Amino acid sequence: MKADTRALAARALAEVALRGASLRDAMERHAPKLSDSRDRALLMALLSEGARWWLRFDPAIDGLLEKPLRHKDPAIHALLVLGLVQLEILQLQDYAAVAATVEATRSLKRPQLAGLVNAVLRRWQRERETLIVRLDATPQTRHAHPAWLGAALARDWPQQAEAVMLADNAEPPLMLRVNRQRSERESMLEQLHASGQAASAHPWLPDAVVLPHSTDITRLPGFEEGAFAVQDGAAQVAADLADLSDGLRVLDACAAPGGKACHLLERAAIDLTALELDAGRAERIRQNLMRLRLDAKLVIGDAGAPAGWWKHQPFDRILIDAPCSASGVLRRRPDVRLHRRESDIAAMHAQQRRILSALWPLLAPGGRLVYITCSVLRAENEGIVSELLAAHADAQAVDFSLPVGQAAAIGWQILPGDGDLDGMYYAVLRKQA
Ligand SMILES: C[S@@+](CC[C@H](N)C(=O)[O-])C[C@H]1O[C@@H](n2cnc3c(N)ncnc32)[C@H](O)[C@@H]1O
Repeated sequence: MKADTRALAARALAEVALRGASLRDAMERHAPKLSDSRDRALLMALLSEGARWWLRFDPAIDGLLEKPLRHKDPAIHALLVLGLVQLEILQLQDYAAVAATVEATRSLKRPQLAGLVNAVLRRWQRERETLIVRLDATPQTRHAHPAWLGAALARDWPQQAEAVMLADNAEPPLMLRVNRQRSERESMLEQLHASGQAASAHPWLPDAVVLPHSTDITRLPGFEEGAFAVQDGAAQVAADLADLSDGLRVLDACAAPGGKACHLLERAAIDLTALELDAGRAERIRQNLMRLRLDAKLVIGDAGAPAGWWKHQPFDRILIDAPCSASGVLRRRPDVRLHRRESDIAAMHAQQRRILSALWPLLAPGGRLVYITCSVLRAENEGIVSELLAAHADAQAVDFSLPVGQAAAIGWQILPGDGDLDGMYYAVLRKQA
């Protein structure tokens, strides 16, 4: 049974690491093939950790083989990477991990390679200490980050780069956002404790509840009733910075899947337009609004081209949670490091600049715009905001600080791991009245 799970994980990991499939899609495609929830949990762990640690163990496997297998037999190559993930990261019992991995060659219809897989994993165990010293010698294989990202972090955050990469590889807590319209944090904590969860109130985010480990949220009390949503604490800062009050006209310009949009609606009786370019992703906003019993105008359109959807009524608040490199959320999305290219950053930059400059004129005098990314790269953050400030005399940066993270040249940067949060950048701009 376990061998089948490993074979499935190897196929799925080869799709993610070698053919550009997203982890989420691969999981959705393969998990339904397993009937046992423990097998599905193992598949998820293998796939997530396999993607997270691919850049460490993929070259290690090459070093243990006479001829690389990556192209000739991608699933077996991925199976070998998963062998090392089980031994080094998931810390499964050596004997069971090796035996089940060798057995998985049969499910992959490569029984002739069982001996090779066994020999490679045994050699790793024998020579482990020397091989690990070799992997630790370069930042790329030490932290399993692409070289370009390691260099960008060292350039933008020389003091913090190492800590950021360590945080990217650590297990994040599960954070929930209590829906103030349907529940309150104290009673939710009581219900969670009664159901055996070690939940606690976040120390400074008023709506956040922290659980130490990921769990099936659909089984937590209050899920069906829309009492809470999953949202990292770094993203929950947006609602405070938006400075809401009842009756305001608010635009969430890049809204899917709707985490921040729903939080805004839970906070005040606002008139919210949730705009999203991608119709498929917009459907996820609709589902979240429905589950949480909230209401917004859902518009499919391009934030960079308001002529297509804007009704000429200015907004009091605009939230731009811009499309970005996602370089701040590697701990929750381990496949991003495999798929993002350095050349993507310039394209993101162009999109961010286009959206921000198209939406500034839609902000009412005296209004507030919150610019957000889940990036840690300065070019996508203060780089973009400083251009807007230079081009518009009626734009002023609002000064603020948060209990964790650091002031950026403009705005505030939470780096991954600061206060055990995801990495996220915030700038607040005010339009002269
Ligand atoms: C970082 S995500 C937003 C996350 C969301 N605010 C939340 O809290 O759940 C960025 C979103 O912007 C959308 N997007 C990208 N380009 C866009 C554009 N030109 N106009 C509107 N939405 C866009 C993407 O499809 C993606 O759903």
